[in-house]
Order: sequence, then C-alpha cells, then structure tokens
Amino acid sequence: MDNKNPNHVAIIMDGNGRWAQKRGLKRTKGHQKGAEALKKISEYVYDKNIKVLSVFAFSTENWKRDKEEIDYLMNLFLKAFKENFEVVKKKGVKVIFSGVKDKLSNKVIAAMEKMTEETKDNEKGIFNICLNYGGQDEIINATKKISLDIKEGNINIKDITPSLFNKYLFNDLPPIDLLIRTSGECRISNFMLWQMAYAEFYFTDVLWPDFDEKEMDKAIESYIKRDRRFGGVEK
Ligand code: IPE
Ligand code: IPE
Ligand code: MG
Repeated sequence: MDNKNPNHVAIIMDGNGRWAQKRGLKRTKGHQKGAEALKKISEYVYDKNIKVLSVFAFSTENWKRDKEEIDYLMNLFLKAFKENFEVVKKKGVKVIFSGVKDKLSNKVIAAMEKMTEETKDNEKGIFNICLNYGGQDEIINATKKISLDIKEGNINIKDITPSLFNKYLFNDLPPIDLLIRTSGECRISNFMLWQMAYAEFYFTDVLWPDFDEKEMDKAIESYIKRDRRFGGVEK
C-alpha cells in the first residue's frame, strides 16, 4: 500500500488565528500551537514513504498583517527552525527554502542558511519551507532568469520545456502529488502554482493547530483512493 503514497505533499497551514480566537486567546498563541503541529507532522511524514514535504510558512501577502503579528511570527520561525532542525537532522532530511530574502531580517536569513548548509548532504527526504513565498513571484523570477540565459546565449528558446523551466524555479522539485489546506478555505492563495499542475487537492475544516498524525493519515487515505488520469483514460 505504501508505494501508492504521495511522493510530494504540500501543506497550506491555515487557521492558526481562528484556533486562538475560538478560545479567547491572542492570534499569536495560535501560531505557537501551529509550530508545534508542524514539528509533529515533519517528524511523521518521512516514515510514510513521502520524500518531499513543502509547507507554506509565510506568504508575500502576509506582510499586510499587523507589525506585532509579523514580529511574533519571525521570532517564532527562529525558534521553530531550531526545534525542527533537530527533528530533520535525526531523520536525515535536507532542509531547503523557497521564497525571496528581501524584507527578512539578517537573523532569520542566517538561521535559514545554517539549516540549509548543515543538512545539504542529507538524502532521506526534503523539507521545503516556503517563507516570504508567492507562486506568481516564483514564476516571474524563473522567467527573468531564463530570459537572461537566452540573452547571453546559454540556451535557445526552443530548448524551453517544463522540465527545463522547473530548474529555474526557487528549487528544482518534483511535482506536488497531494495538496492539503486546513481551516475550510478552498483556495490556493498563490501557493506553488507551477508545481501543483496535477496535484490532488484535500481540503479539511480542521484548523492547523489541530492537524495531527491521524489527520495526515486521513489525507493520505483520501489520496490513495483517487484515480489520477493525467489526461488519459482509465484502463
Ligand atoms: C496561517 O494561519 C498562518 C499564517 C498565515 C502565517 P492564519 O494566521 O492565516 O489563521 P487564520 O486564517 O487567521 O485563522
Ligand atoms: C496562506 O494563508 C498563507 C500561509 C498559510 C502562510 P492566508 O491565511 O494568508 O491566506 P488567505 O488570506 O486566507 O488567502
Ligand atoms: Mg489564514
């Protein structure tokens, strides 16, 4: 059964604020609980034959939030990076980041670089953290780099294929098989647009801080039952 499990799972971890508000707590408390949920999930998935886990930690649109919430999130990332780092190191997983560095503090950038550097030879799986990430941003960024390579004569226009284009993205990742979004919202909020071309979507009302191993199993079970045709005809 396990070989039918998804290879690349991506998660839009949504609902932290509502989780806290429902309990009369500050939104930031929800983010703290959300970080704990992520730690558990990142510890769980790599034993399920899942090779790549991509998570949406902070979008290019999230800068619209109050300064207090943004500052809290940035400090939480520093703490969460350290804790997740222990988990992924133990698991032999490589940590990578997708997104742009601008607007991020030097402290956060240094922590990101440390994690990437110290896990770069790990081969058990990939933990892709999307921070200051936007899907349209990623495609535009790749288009600019590819245009420059054409201008400089490194590649020809006729060489552009999906797999070549993929190499110009923030990271050259396999396609997403299963996209999970918590909290009941049925939208993708500018997450990995290119990579989810043929992804199976799984939307759940569960708020991210309540998403645990059992919920992950439910998502995988739902995925396994899907009939992925990729434009073909069922045989
Ligand atoms: C997701 O939870 C975490 C981030 C966007 C950083 P939200 O903070 O969006 O929670 P809701 O959607 O307001 O409940
Ligand atoms: C998407 O959630 C971004 C992250 C989970 C980091 P949002 O809460 O920001 O998305 P919208 O605003 O509901 O579309
Ligand atoms: Mg939200």
